[in-house]
This record gives sequence, structure tokens and C-alpha cells, in this order.
Amino acid sequence: MTKRSKCEFDEFVCDILENDHFLETKKDLHHGTSKYEHSLRVAKLSYRLGRIFKADLRSISRAGLLHDFFLGTRKESAQNSYLRHPVTASNNAKKYFNVNELESEAIKTHMFHHVLIKKIFPFINREEKASVKEFKPKSKEGWIVCASDLLISIVECERFQFTYAFNVALLLIFNVILFKN
Ligand SMILES: [Fe+2]
Ligand SMILES: [Fe+2]
Repeated sequence: MTKRSKCEFDEFVCDILENDHFLETKKDLHHGTSKYEHSLRVAKLSYRLGRIFKADLRSISRAGLLHDFFLGTRKESAQNSYLRHPVTASNNAKKYFNVNELESEAIKTHMFHHVLIKKIFPFINREEKASVKEFKPKSKEGWIVCASDLLISIVECERFQFTYAFNVALLLIFNVILFKN
């Protein structure tokens, strides 16, 4: 990131990074790192991709940073589950940061990749209903945050668990083959 881009990115998200509630995410383990670090990586990648695809850079940076804004693990409660935590994160983002509609939608749809994986392998996370209509991103910003989350997750998991990354890569290849039309 250039110095100018870094300044712009910092300006977009500084209030979130200094917020006490958001700082709590430093305590949560996520993909072998902290949720804070994971979210910051997703936000920075979203910002970079947003520049390339001419997206709303402020919204994409904030949505990227807040996409996993919930406390605890995904297994701890129903609201934190694989497919419900985006709604929890969106509600928290609205409560503490008054996010706009674009940001809120991008947060809510960031787990679309998990929905696609479930469509191919329904036995994964069987107890949750995955609706393509509900989770499909509705904006360029939403698609970018979703893609950034997936890419960063693969990189983070790869560092800690090679087989997980291998399985995700395999699923992605199936996705491309099955959804190419
Ligand atoms: Fe998430
Ligand atoms: Fe995430």
C-alpha cells in the first residue's frame, strides 16, 4: 500500500480501530490469529481490490473491518454460527458505528462462499439452512468483501492447517466447474 493509500485507509477506519468494543476482538482467536488481525487484513485487501474495481473505498474498508464484528467463537451460540454471525456483526456494526446500507449489506453477505460450498457438500454444517438468495452479495463492495474474506482465510488457515487450505482449494475448483455456466 502506498503512503497516500495508507493515510486514506487509516482515515476511513481510525474510529473503529480505536473503539473499545472493537478492540475486544483482539481477544478472540480466529483462523489461528486474532479476529482483530483477520478483520484488518480483510479490510486492507478489500480496500486494495476496491481501488482496482473502482468501488466505494470508505464503505468497503469499513465493511471489511467490521465483517466479523462479534465476540466469542462461531460455535458458542446460535447468533455466532457460520451463517448467522454476519447478521450479528451487521447489527453490532449498526449499533456502534452507524454503518450505512451498503456497508451493512456487504457485512451480511460476506459468507456467500460458505453457502456455495454447502450447496456442493450439503453434509457440511448440516444444521444451518443456506439460502443463495439471502446471502448473495448485492453490490460490487459486497462481492469484494466476500472474496477478500475467503482469500485471507485460506492464507491464514494455510499457515496453521495445510489440509484445511487444501480442502478449500479443492472445493473452489468444484465450484468453478459446477457454476461456470
Ligand atoms: Fe465471517
Ligand atoms: Fe472473516
